[in-house]
Amino acid sequence: MAHGKDSKEKVVFVGDSRVRKGNGFITPPDYTAYPGKSEAFIPNFLLKEWMVGVVVLVGFLVLTIAEPAPLGFPANPSASVIPMPDWYFLFLYQYLKLPYASGDYVVLGTLGVSGIPFIALLLAPFLDTGKERRFYRRPIASSLMILGLLAVTFLTNTAWTHYKHQLAETGQIPEDIQREEKAAENRAKGLPTSNAKQAAVVAIVDKEDKAMESFKKAGCISCHAADMKGASGPSLRGIGDVHDKDAILTIIKEGYNGKMPAQYDAAIAAGLTDQDVDHLAEWLAKQKAAQ
Ligand code: HEC
Repeated sequence: MAHGKDSKEKVVFVGDSRVRKGNGFITPPDYTAYPGKSEAFIPNFLLKEWMVGVVVLVGFLVLTIAEPAPLGFPANPSASVIPMPDWYFLFLYQYLKLPYASGDYVVLGTLGVSGIPFIALLLAPFLDTGKERRFYRRPIASSLMILGLLAVTFLTNTAWTHYKHQLAETGQIPEDIQREEKAAENRAKGLPTSNAKQAAVVAIVDKEDKAMESFKKAGCISCHAADMKGASGPSLRGIGDVHDKDAILTIIKEGYNGKMPAQYDAAIAAGLTDQDVDHLAEWLAKQKAAQ
């Protein structure tokens, strides 16, 4: 096989890859005296790093595709909230409340003090030139590190304690927890746990049934539409997959989620009998998507 100009040239690959060991401008030191102990960073070590990186990245992509990011609760601008950052920023949040990092000193707090660690990191290779690698032989670097960790832990804890205190003081329950509780309640009652609208492609079961008349007469159509595909209220097509007869009766009698008012009295006033309402619920419970 011919490789390059000189067919007798010996081709050396890096590791078990197809990357040729070049004689680039960096000549790696000769490590043959330490077999298995060391290797050239470029390209041997870098190549391994790279391959591990690719595997991790592909794994990560597969995970993100398999498990899409969950949609949070819709924002409620009328709810009073105590704004809080995510937990890993709590220490910064607390730090910015310190007198010399806020108010008149906010530039010092945001640019000055946070600039120091960045510059220190940039300068670290020039400042920290000691050969020692054991942490107890590097007192300055180690104590800075431990001090940093302690400060972060302390500030995070202070921020969280302060937040809990504020919640108790103002008697607030965070909105997400309120909703979680509500959802758990609904789950226990067998009601849906979200306001997601039903897709309106399902056919109406037993269209000729007299319950269809009751549905119109009781005024359900004003919100759920005569074709049951929904208007201001959700579609009721296929509603039997979501609620059984008793649950629907409860919805008619008590309303739903605070968004649909109780309908029983209006239905009776519109001339429906108790049996009509019962039959309407029974008929709605039969509305199931065709399998
Ligand atoms: C004033 C408007 C209005 C009227 C009238 C009304 N509804 Fe509703 N209904 C709603 C709204 C809005 C919802 C959705 C509530 C929610 O999910 O937060 C709803 C939800 C429902 C649900 C549950 C739907 C689901 O996807 O879980 C059923 C069942 C239902 N209504 C039945 C009826 C029946 C039967 C009548 C007539 C007796 C009726 N509704 C009259 C507004 C109305």
